[in-house]
Amino acid sequence: MATAKFKEASPYLKPKPSPPPEDYLYNRYLEDLALRTESRDDPVVKLALFGAGRAGTIHLTSIMSSPRVKLLYIVDDVESNWTKLERYWHLEDVTFLHSKQSDRVYKDLNVDAVIVASPTFTHEDIVTKALEARKAVFCEKPIAENRVNTAKCYESAKKVGRPLFCAFNRRFDPSYSSVRDRVRKGEVGHVHMIKTVARDSPLPSVEYLKISGGIFHDCMVHDIDVITWILGEYPDKVSALADANISEIKAIGDFDTVAVTLHFPSGTLGMIDLSRNSSFGYDQRLEVFGPKGMMQVDNEQPIHSVRRQYGQEGQITAPIWYSFASRYMNGYRREFDHFIDIVLGKAESMVRPNEILAVSKIAMACEESARAGKVVELKWADGELPYHR
Ligand SMILES: NC(=O)c1ccc[n+]([C@@H]2O[C@H](COP(=O)([O-])OP(=O)(O)OC[C@H]3O[C@@H](n4cnc5c(N)ncnc54)[C@H](O)[C@@H]3O)[C@@H](O)[C@H]2O)c1
Repeated sequence: MATAKFKEASPYLKPKPSPPPEDYLYNRYLEDLALRTESRDDPVVKLALFGAGRAGTIHLTSIMSSPRVKLLYIVDDVESNWTKLERYWHLEDVTFLHSKQSDRVYKDLNVDAVIVASPTFTHEDIVTKALEARKAVFCEKPIAENRVNTAKCYESAKKVGRPLFCAFNRRFDPSYSSVRDRVRKGEVGHVHMIKTVARDSPLPSVEYLKISGGIFHDCMVHDIDVITWILGEYPDKVSALADANISEIKAIGDFDTVAVTLHFPSGTLGMIDLSRNSSFGYDQRLEVFGPKGMMQVDNEQPIHSVRRQYGQEGQITAPIWYSFASRYMNGYRREFDHFIDIVLGKAESMVRPNEILAVSKIAMACEESARAGKVVELKWADGELPYHR
């Protein structure tokens, strides 16, 4: 009886509530439910996919689940997989090509865009030829094996007036992007410290590591990108320590464990904690600290609502996501959708050339610091950064 006085009018008499913006899946569902046909009047974007390995399979999943695109070609050198790919995804209308036959893609005027998910050393050639053939390009990071060649790719894109999008998936992760929005609104004030933890799972094969470009250019670029994208600032000094605890990684001259500190002109410090091998899942965390407070992105768990307790063992919960394909699934879908918007002229690329070139320069400085055992200073020329200092 004590609460009877709080009774309200029927909820049917109140304005209909809307879902919170944070429920990105429900909001996406509402778009599907509304069947707004204006967006379906856009032409269907016709695609070629280069590389159907680990990253290519993620992008193939995005392609197959998008009504906005049609896949015309898959270029991949593992011919023994072609029939399996065709049967698994029902790709009866798709033409499979060996990379030696790539010219067919470039010459086909029906192809609007190419998705590049082949090994890093092949990117520059595919990107350049696709741009010369006036295709829009979605390219897995890194766009080329070094900064000079990446810059050349962007020059080609500018020359032909076609988009070159570098796939930095973490920017499209709902948690990371919400932290960026809050930091940019000043919720923690001037950032004093920003930290990322990125520990890979499962351990990549040695064959992959040999052609990966090394931990700084293959892995750390994601962390550098997230930090500089959140802060909107670029470091003037970096210092890195690195070692290889896994003998096979030492043998190829790479590292598996890296600690980096970054100093930014405004007084912010950054820290990156990186490992190639996390035994408990794909450990991805972020923390931003300032005078007004602190924000964290913690690891996400697939089954986060079930908690178990047996005997005296304390609480047991599900493991965290195992790897990038699951942890960043939403990010991959959202970056793909963003790319299609760019191709259709409905959006400007969220990932800008001078940001990518700056990330590459910082990764080079971090590697130099680790290999030479010294603090490396970064000098930025006028116009080199995406903002004026
Ligand atoms: N953003 C991310 O989260 C993420 C994750 C993994 C990999 N990557 C990037 O994706 C790229 C591929 O990595 P992966 O792990 O998928 O490698 P992978 O070895 O699993 O797959 C590469 C595929 O490309 C094919 N291939 C080889 N040469 C080719 C060519 N010239 N043209 C077309 N296909 C060719 C191979 O047969 C293979 O199937 C790398 O650049 C890597 O940095 C990004």
